[in-house]
Amino acid sequence: MIESVGLSKFYPSPIKGPFDVKSLRDFLGKPREEIPALIDLNFKVKESEIFGLLGPNGAGKTTFCKIANALVIPTRGNLYISGYDSVKEHDKIKGKIFTIFGGERDLFGLFQWRVSVEKNLRFISELWRIPKIEAEKRINYALELLNLKDKKNEWYQKLSAGMRQKVYLALPLILQPEVLILDEPTVYIDVFTRREAWDAILELSREFGTTIILTTHNLNEAEMLCDRVLIFNKKKIAEGKPKELIEKFQTLKIERKLLVKIKGKINVEEFEKTAEKVNTYTQNGYTYLEIYVRRDYLKDVLTILTNHNVTDIQNKTTTLEDIFKELLGGENENLA
Ligand SMILES: Nc1ncnc2c1ncn2[C@@H]1O[C@H](COP(=O)(O)OP(=O)(O)OP(=O)(O)O)[C@@H](O)[C@H]1O
Ligand SMILES: [Mg+2]
Repeated sequence: MIESVGLSKFYPSPIKGPFDVKSLRDFLGKPREEIPALIDLNFKVKESEIFGLLGPNGAGKTTFCKIANALVIPTRGNLYISGYDSVKEHDKIKGKIFTIFGGERDLFGLFQWRVSVEKNLRFISELWRIPKIEAEKRINYALELLNLKDKKNEWYQKLSAGMRQKVYLALPLILQPEVLILDEPTVYIDVFTRREAWDAILELSREFGTTIILTTHNLNEAEMLCDRVLIFNKKKIAEGKPKELIEKFQTLKIERKLLVKIKGKINVEEFEKTAEKVNTYTQNGYTYLEIYVRRDYLKDVLTILTNHNVTDIQNKTTTLEDIFKELLGGENENLA
């Protein structure tokens, strides 16, 4: 459905002025420095899958979304959407793909500011040639799902950034594109209504079979929504189902955190040979411990604890966020 084959993008470094060293190099015929944004990115996305592109700031997420829309031309490699090259054959996929740029809202200037939300949605449906009655049904459904019914008569201009982002998310529910590219779709949306945005995204994939590529920094969001993810920083670092990645990489390197409550006191030196770090404080005759331990020493730490009067113990399990930090914290060698 979507295939990235050796996709690479190097931006030319900007020319600062006539006496800029780089410009001078250019003048002398030496190649200008380039800013890498994507390096040899290979992956495939299946039909109706939600695929997450996860990377830190500057990883190349927006660059990828722009290539999908032929707004940026790759230096090397190709991105195929429904079998067509996203840049060279863009006219073939134009009516099939829809993109929401989170950080750069309404990049395509679809919404009119001094027009109500509902009229805006009707107008855009008309542009996509959705029959009137069908459009009306879909608009009502989308506004209901995103809990935006009470905003339908408001001018688009009067909405907050988060509300506008949600109105934007109503569009794929109405236009029902084959492929949806979401560049940080829940940026600006608060934690109370993020669930509605997530539901809309899940609904698209499950009900309408939309194939979705989603970029995010929110690892919770990725774990919640994505069937598979690709962790990258210009180059691919790892790829797989969130659960599989957690399983695969929660090896010795990743620390477990145990939260332990003990009646009485405990000498932290007891953990000297087994734990990475122990934080402790006492209150009302109880000692509270935060024990960071490598997985292979877990058993030893638990053995020590059995000699004490433990009244509570919690194990913080590894999340996709832990894996993300672990993989991007060190060398970004290709582990995939
Ligand atoms: N028009 C441009 N000209 C030169 N360099 C660019 C341009 N656009 C992006 N870059 C560079 O390409 C790299 C990737 O940028 P991109 O915006 O794709 O990252 P991102 O993953 O979307 O980051 P963020 O999480 O901050 O949105 C960065 O080093 C950035 O500085
Ligand atoms: Mg970006």
